[in-house]
Amino acid sequence: IEINCFKEIDSTNDEAKKNGKNHFSIFVAPKQSDGKGRCGRKFESPGGLYFSIFLKKDELVFADILTIRAVVAVVRVLKNIGLEVGVKWVNDVFIDNKKVCGILTESLINMYGDITDIVVGIGINIGTDQSKFSKEVRSVAGVIGDGIDKNLIVAKILNELSDIFKIERGIIIDEYKSYLIVLNKKIYYSIDGSIKEGLALDIDENGSLVILENEKIRKLSYGDVSIKL
Ligand code: BTN
Repeated sequence: IEINCFKEIDSTNDEAKKNGKNHFSIFVAPKQSDGKGRCGRKFESPGGLYFSIFLKKDELVFADILTIRAVVAVVRVLKNIGLEVGVKWVNDVFIDNKKVCGILTESLINMYGDITDIVVGIGINIGTDQSKFSKEVRSVAGVIGDGIDKNLIVAKILNELSDIFKIERGIIIDEYKSYLIVLNKKIYYSIDGSIKEGLALDIDENGSLVILENEKIRKLSYGDVSIKL
């Protein structure tokens, strides 16, 4: 596979979107000056492991639930090195109620509006200096070990991903569900600008969160939830 390493970069996702050509090429950096998060947010990247995978849609066996597949790959690897991790729907990996990893999937389209390529970006706070985060992030972002070899972690995640990309959706959804920390909990989420409250019941076959809200069922396909303490 093609691996493009950078000492520092604005955003590995932006770089992959600009310069990605070959299926499964990787763009990786230990630092980002303009890391992108979901919903137009910034992803503070003062030092850790940041990488993006460029995928040609036609070369994927299954081009569905890619973010969820990436979450499963990260969780398998972190569990495998002995960490106790959980997932907050949809794509945040948590240790001890703090987020250690975020994932941002972006699609590229052609002039007819069809998706041609996909970039999956993964950011993990490995060996990150907590004090380098801004104040508000410092209290929510978790960090994992100084002694962890970042190269080994990327390699293991890529290995898992190449397997996971060939597994049928239902099996991956079941595995993903087993890692979720939100199920059967009261959660908050925002819809059309207002904050709602409900009980997280399940994940459907598309990875949408099924919520019981005022005795009605609602499905969330994107957005953020927080757990009511
Ligand atoms: C989120 O939690 O909102 C998603 C964060 C995704 C961060 C990764 S780091 C590597 C890649 N490059 C980016 O600019 N963002 C993703």
